Formats: sequence, structure tokens, C-alpha cells
Amino acid sequence: QPLILSLLATSSDGTIPDTRKIEYNGVDLFTSDEQAVVRAALDSLASKEMVSYTQITSTAFVLTPEGLEIAEKGSHEYRLWKALPPKGGEPIGVPELKKLLGDETAKIGQMRAFKNKWISKEGAGFVRAVDAPQDETAEQLREVRSTEGHSGGDAVLKELQKRKLVQPRKNIHYSVAKGPQFALEVKTLETDLTEEMIASLQGAWKDAAFKQYNFAAAGQPTEGGALHPLLKVREEMRQIFFDMGFTEMPTNRFVESAFWNFDAMFVPQQHPARELQDTFYVKDPVRAKIPDEEYYERVRDIHESGGYGSIGYRAPFSREESEKLLLRTHTTAISTDMLYKIANQPGGFKPAKMFSIDRVFRNEATDATHLAEFHQVEGVVADYDITLGNLIAFMEEFFGRTGNTKLRFKPAYNPYTEPSMEVFSWHEGLGKWIEIANSGIFRPEMLEPMGLPKGVRVLGWGMSLERPTMIKYKISDIRTLVGHKTDLDSVKKRAAVRLEKGDD
Ligand code: PHE
Repeated sequence: QPLILSLLATSSDGTIPDTRKIEYNGVDLFTSDEQAVVRAALDSLASKEMVSYTQITSTAFVLTPEGLEIAEKGSHEYRLWKALPPKGGEPIGVPELKKLLGDETAKIGQMRAFKNKWISKEGAGFVRAVDAPQDETAEQLREVRSTEGHSGGDAVLKELQKRKLVQPRKNIHYSVAKGPQFALEVKTLETDLTEEMIASLQGAWKDAAFKQYNFAAAGQPTEGGALHPLLKVREEMRQIFFDMGFTEMPTNRFVESAFWNFDAMFVPQQHPARELQDTFYVKDPVRAKIPDEEYYERVRDIHESGGYGSIGYRAPFSREESEKLLLRTHTTAISTDMLYKIANQPGGFKPAKMFSIDRVFRNEATDATHLAEFHQVEGVVADYDITLGNLIAFMEEFFGRTGNTKLRFKPAYNPYTEPSMEVFSWHEGLGKWIEIANSGIFRPEMLEPMGLPKGVRVLGWGMSLERPTMIKYKISDIRTLVGHKTDLDSVKKRAAVRLEKGDD
């Protein structure tokens, strides 16, 4: 800072036109690379209005590694010429030159030196043809190295750039002028009006010079909560469901009975998904209550012996199995309970569109794309005479609003839906179809024991919340999104999402 101030004071017009030319004892102090240092000093002086400055951008040329080598050792042809004896000496052949200079220099050098007539052939080798060749390329490069330009102008630089010996670089430097508070001495300014200044008998506050507020300074990051990316995406999806006229189901029940999670959905008691390796069972309390004994009887009958036109599973059905408590493996357990409730509500069944987004648990090994707990997004529609066409239309509308406009459906199997479909979406960024959801029309074996009227059909679809969130935020390992490896700072900094903009 004192150097800048004294230069300004002694210069004839009170300016420093180019901060790369600040010299001390005949040396330039700050190269193009070091202008950030100058900038910091200028900012500090400018904040006290002692100087004002403007930024100047220019293009400079710097040498590439190959250019540097030539500047230092001479061009390939020069090095080759140098390795040869004068006329009349013992000629040197190509194999020997390769050994001396390396393959590349020997090859290119020999070609160009010969073309320049710097060397001549003598038997099986070469000797020098001139006494002191002019190594123009090396000289040009040396000039670029010391001046970042060339007195020969753009044509020379363009040619050197084409040969990949120099490359352009943006340079930033500054031009400085005196400010209204210019002085040779940098005063330390007061940053606070203190109690001592006010109390001082000399009235220190009157003479104190105060530092200006910098209203452009970036604020301190605020301490406080931030929404997790999953919650941001959940909120977007909730709004889409609300906009489509769906109501939210109460999902505040992580512990569920096997009855609601499996039996009532017509999942056979022998189904492999019920095994301990796939489902977390709860030890305490041991048993769940069965909600409605008559309904329970009907569910048992449909499993054991069939009904409503179905032959059932004709396999043993145990109450002990139904009363097991578990961490729900899908939110469809809640949808099932809700369907039972609307079938039995006062005034009878009324058509309904319902959704839920909440946590589910599966006893799975964790890896980059699987956790033992994740969230499900589920939509369920119950109405008279709705069809597979309605299911497809609902999903096209819902997924369309989340930015998934190209969908494909593939027949699939669920114990509780028939037909069932897997849903694939075209991912523009990945350039492939990715599976995003599972869906289907709930089976009569599930719906009729509940007491839903005969013509009522229920369709539904379910997906994870993690998958679209990971795609949206370009997260490749789910363990960095949820769990103890999550980086809280990145949670705070992640931007909000707008799903309808699509996935790429
Ligand atoms: N429960 C299904 C799952 O866990 C999703 C689903 C919901 C399928 C509704 C069909 C109907 O994948």
C-alpha cells in the first residue's frame, strides 16, 4: 500500500496506468499472475477512498511446455545443427543423432534443418552447411516469454499458437488514480464508536476517522435449520398430488401389523417377502390387535378357501402370523387400512383419491442404491368402473408433472394387484429407460372382504422418493443422502428443485 501511494504521489499525472509496471529498483514487482495481491491492496485503499481504480483485461501470450523447451534449448533444427561437426568434419548419421537428441528432435530437426539448408548430406551422415543459422522460432519464443506479446504483431503469434508453442491467456491488471482522501500515510480507521471514545475528556469521537460500511460484502452464512433434499422433493410431490385433487393419508405409523401389511392385501402367509431376511419384525409388544373380527374372518376365508369367484390360496392361515408386528415394508399397508375405512364409513363408500409419502423399512443389505429404510410415494384412486386405461392416464398426468413425460409400461406381478405394471421413464441425461414405479389394479380378493361395493375398482402406483431425488441432485450414492455419512453442509447448500423442469 505505501508503495502504491508513493508512486501516485510522485507520478506526473497522479496515476498508475498499469499495475504490472509497478517497479522497485528497476524490477517489476507484480507479474500478471500476482495481480490479485495488487487488487487486495487497492481494495483496502479504495475502501478508505484514498485511491480509485479500474480493471483492465488484456490478452497475453504464454509459452506451452514445448514452447518453453525451444526457448531454452533452441528449435529441433537448431539443436540438430548444433550436434553436427562443421563442414569437413566427420559426418554424423541418423542413428547416432537419434541417440544424441532423442527420436523426435532428430527426425523433425533433420527435416527442417535440411529444408533451411543449414546442413548438408555427406556420405551416410550430415555436417553443418552454415556457420551461424538464425533460429527464428526460438528468438520469437524468447521475446514472447519476456514480453507476453511479439513486436512482429498478431501474425507471428497466430503462427506460434497454431504450432502449439504459445497459448493466449486472459490478463487482468489495474489502472489507479488518487482518491478524494489521498494521503501518503495509511490511517487505521475506527470500525466502532466505542464507549471510551464517548467518555474521553478530549472528545476522541469528534476527531476519529471511521471506516465506511461495505454494503456489498457477503454476509455470514446464517446458522439454522435447512430442509433435507428429500423433504424438498417430497413437498414438490405433495403439491402435485394436491393439485390433482388427492387427499393425504395419515402415515404416522411405522410399526404395523402383518395383518395390514400383508394379510388384508391378500399376500399369502407363505410369501417369501414375509421372511425375517426381508422384513423387520418387532419383539415388543409381541402381538398386534386385530381391528374387526368379522372382517378378519372374511380375510382368513379368502386366503384359505377363496370366495368372490376366487379359489384362494388353499393354504393354512395362522392368526399368530397375522398378529405379528413389523416395521411396515410399504405404505400400501396404510392405503389398505384407508380403503377398509372408506368402505365402512358412515354413509357408505364414496370415490376417493388419496396419496401418501413416508418411510418404509426392508431388511436389505445397504449399498450405493439401497438402504434398509427409504420413502415411498403412493397414489390410490377408488371409484366405480375405473380401468387400466385410467391407471395409465393418472400416471401419465402425475409423472408428467414431475418432468417424466416419456413413459413405458411393462406387465409385472404383485400378489395384491392384477394386472400389474412396472413403469419406466426415458432419462434424457442417462440416455436410457429407467424403472421409476410399480403399479396395478387391486385384486377383488383384497377389496371385497373389506365391504367395498362390487363395481368399485381401486388403482394405485408406488415409487421411492430417493430415486427421483438422487437423479435431481445428481447424487450417485444414497448413503451420502441419508444416514450418518450425510454431509450437513451440502444439505444446507443444495438448491430448491422444480420437478417440472425435467430430470436432466
Ligand atoms: N406396494 C408397491 C411396492 O412396494 C407399490 C404399489 C402400490 C403397487 C400400489 C401397486 C399399487 O412396490
